[in-house]
Amino acid sequence: MEFTQAAGPNPLDAGRVVTKPIDRIDGPLKVSGRAPYAYEYHQDFPNAAYGFVLGSSVPKGRIASLDTKAAEAMPGVLLVLTHANTPKMSDEGEHNAPQLQGAEIKQYEQAVAFVVAETFEQARAAARAVKVTYTEAKGAYDLAAVQDKGEPVKSAPDSTVGDFDKAFSAAPVTVDVTYTTPDQSHAMMEPHASVAKWDGDKLTVYTANQMIHWAHDGIAGTLGIPKTKVRVQSAYVGGGFGSKLFIYSDPILAAVAAQKLGRPVKVALTRPQIFNHTNHRPATIQRIRLGAGPDGRITAMGHDTVSGNQEGGEVENAADQTKLLYAGENRLIRTRLSELDLPKGGAMRAPGEAVGLLALECAMDELAEKTGVDPVELRIRNDIQYDPEKGPSRSFSSRHLVECLRTGAERFGWSKRAAKPGTVRDGQWLVGMGVASGFRGNLVMPSGARVKLDREGVVTVETQMTDIGTGSYTILGQVAAEMMGLPIEKVRVKLGDSDFPLSSGSGGSWGANSASAGVFAACEALRDAVAQKAGFNTKDVTFADGNVASGGRSRSLAEVAGPDGVTVEAKAEFGDLTKKFAQASFAGHFCEVGVDAHTGEIRVRRMLSVCSAGRIINPKTSRNQCLGGMTMGIGAALMEEQVVDERFGGFINHDLAEYVVPVHADIPDLDVVFLDETDDKSSWIKAKGVGELGICGVGAAVANAVYNATGIRIRDYPLTLDKLLPRLPTA
Ligand code: MOS
Repeated sequence: MEFTQAAGPNPLDAGRVVTKPIDRIDGPLKVSGRAPYAYEYHQDFPNAAYGFVLGSSVPKGRIASLDTKAAEAMPGVLLVLTHANTPKMSDEGEHNAPQLQGAEIKQYEQAVAFVVAETFEQARAAARAVKVTYTEAKGAYDLAAVQDKGEPVKSAPDSTVGDFDKAFSAAPVTVDVTYTTPDQSHAMMEPHASVAKWDGDKLTVYTANQMIHWAHDGIAGTLGIPKTKVRVQSAYVGGGFGSKLFIYSDPILAAVAAQKLGRPVKVALTRPQIFNHTNHRPATIQRIRLGAGPDGRITAMGHDTVSGNQEGGEVENAADQTKLLYAGENRLIRTRLSELDLPKGGAMRAPGEAVGLLALECAMDELAEKTGVDPVELRIRNDIQYDPEKGPSRSFSSRHLVECLRTGAERFGWSKRAAKPGTVRDGQWLVGMGVASGFRGNLVMPSGARVKLDREGVVTVETQMTDIGTGSYTILGQVAAEMMGLPIEKVRVKLGDSDFPLSSGSGGSWGANSASAGVFAACEALRDAVAQKAGFNTKDVTFADGNVASGGRSRSLAEVAGPDGVTVEAKAEFGDLTKKFAQASFAGHFCEVGVDAHTGEIRVRRMLSVCSAGRIINPKTSRNQCLGGMTMGIGAALMEEQVVDERFGGFINHDLAEYVVPVHADIPDLDVVFLDETDDKSSWIKAKGVGELGICGVGAAVANAVYNATGIRIRDYPLTLDKLLPRLPTA
């Protein structure tokens, strides 16, 4: 079923189950410890062996010598894989992840050996006994040092509209500022883990992953076996934030070792390995130039951003939102990529916008101050209802940024903010308020589902879609329940299995809308099949209270299903509406901080996000997504930073003690409000993503509040107290 024109009225509009704050249907399983995560499948395989990945201690160069004799002689050791005895793998597929293929080292903590033993402790101890020497090559690890070598990239073309230089130099008010954001780690709760087992020539991998079909392609492609011989399961995932979009050494090496040993092999990356072995959000250096009239109306919009990555790696698309967020006739937006030899960078929650808005939305605050226009009003004045590059012919599918800002200002008590920074005091605390706009592009992906109606009148949904803590089980159940006129209790949802129909997976905030569209399409087909089987040869049927009815006749779904039940499968595909219309979700974020006048300690006191993201399928799970995003945004503003150690070409703070993220004590009561809207051009669901919207812009609202509290502008994230303290007035 293809989505080619704006959605008309459909059964979801009834809102009996959809739009209700239903508790997570997987909640009882999770809180009682019965939801199996990837590493926990050993309960099914008591004879599993344990693998331990040994990572390179140099970032670049070659293995000079590798001696496994001592390791092999250690207690319990079953197998030591190195590049000398690992089968040839393919690097051809986009999602392939070949391991132990040669002596070349491209990354600190790259796998150089894989030790398998009877217990985890034995494998770890033996890995320490593998002797490796390296010939180290010179690498580049400092973004600032290579920023001028940045190259343009296809995925982020330059925007050049009007004459930026002329408009900028003619502008009565200008801001020209450079912000930096550091490398960041996803730091999700569940480490990367896989269990692999073979039944004859058929491989099953239980792994913690967001994108079943990518993992399926990647594992089969790397190992050179047909996809029909590989099954990937990821039923429960303890967070991912983008790290689990991809596969690393764990599923690949577990599969190779399991085949060699003829028994299941399980492997989890340890927490310290994850920070350098897997990917991370790359650091950026962003120069923002804004030219405006005295009234704050922007005439010149400039954003130059650079990030680094290994050869072939992606750019951090930090200027993406700047192409669409505000008006301005003259525009110059450029994204550059420099080569670095740090661990590979990749997607992390709202790649692009999350760090792009940290810079842009603070620069807007700086423009507000220079023009004397209130920061909320400045954003409203520069709102634009169409793509500022393409003109009025490309409007937004829906855009309620102004309403987000106005609603937020009203609810937060913005009028009480002192325009002059550093003037509000509460005991030892300097108090300030900040605002920022939130923006996240709305992406859609093809997504399929299978639905079965059984003789008990229960509908079972099966799709490869994953639930990474987001609430997918629940919302897909709600969509099926609404479509079939059933209560949520009469729906079962099965996810995260490559044997199910291919789905969008969980990435880029496309999951809720796209996967729901897949379930919608399948339920449309099920409705047709049931109506026909019931003998209602008409489109004029209603599904309610477990019955299907037409023309005054009504039959129960259970009875129509009969002993064999009814099973159908369908797929949602998307036409070009995302090209014809600019599609994004929006937010207004408001923050109040206190800064200790003596110590520079920053405490968030209150925070409100007003979000506009189309139909909210479940206000409870959506709110949870936003609360998590806000927490992560506070982390980005105040704490999170992977510190590059140029001696090792890697990140030196590689655990949750030293990579600091907010804890409960850092987070006060946060508030989230959703605007009541539907976006009929996003899909039949009329919804957009919230998973990433929640973080976009949040950190800038915090930083702007810190400025308002202290009068100190820090343009180098995170805002730690050592950067504030020297400039604080003595109390
Ligand atoms: Mo997201 S960074 O696509 O999980």
